Amino acid sequence: MTGKKIVKQDALIKAAQEARKHVYAPFSKYRVGAAVLTSTGEIFSGCNVENSSYRLTNCAEVTALTKAVSEGYSKFVKLAVVTDDGGYPCGACRQVIWELCGDIEVLVVDKKGRVKKERSAKLLPHAFKLNVT
Ligand code: THU
Repeated sequence: MTGKKIVKQDALIKAAQEARKHVYAPFSKYRVGAAVLTSTGEIFSGCNVENSSYRLTNCAEVTALTKAVSEGYSKFVKLAVVTDDGGYPCGACRQVIWELCGDIEVLVVDKKGRVKKERSAKLLPHAFKLNVT
């Protein structure tokens, strides 16, 4: 059981590290890779893709989740984000993670592979969610 969990976590981090190789960040030079694990075991990854019109930049977490949702996946159990400095997801990404994943485990990883674990509910307390009936 524990072994299986570790393999999944390692695979998720590896996918985020791989995606990070494709970053397009000529403006900030801040390189971010992310990967999300679906409830059925698939992994989708993504990187940040910047734009000279700055606010059109896509964050890595959003890229990964958008890829997964657009391929028909909607249940997620874990997300990994890799940067040099082990930075946490930005506020906008926290909102997107909460919207699409609910309360999942978020692995925040630095360039040395050091992992910090946090729940998405804790990253975004008192989260906004539209209640429509
Ligand atoms: N970035 C991400 O990809 N994810 C985050 O959670 C924080 C910020 C990207 C956006 C931009 O390309 C660069 O990092 C600097 O903000």
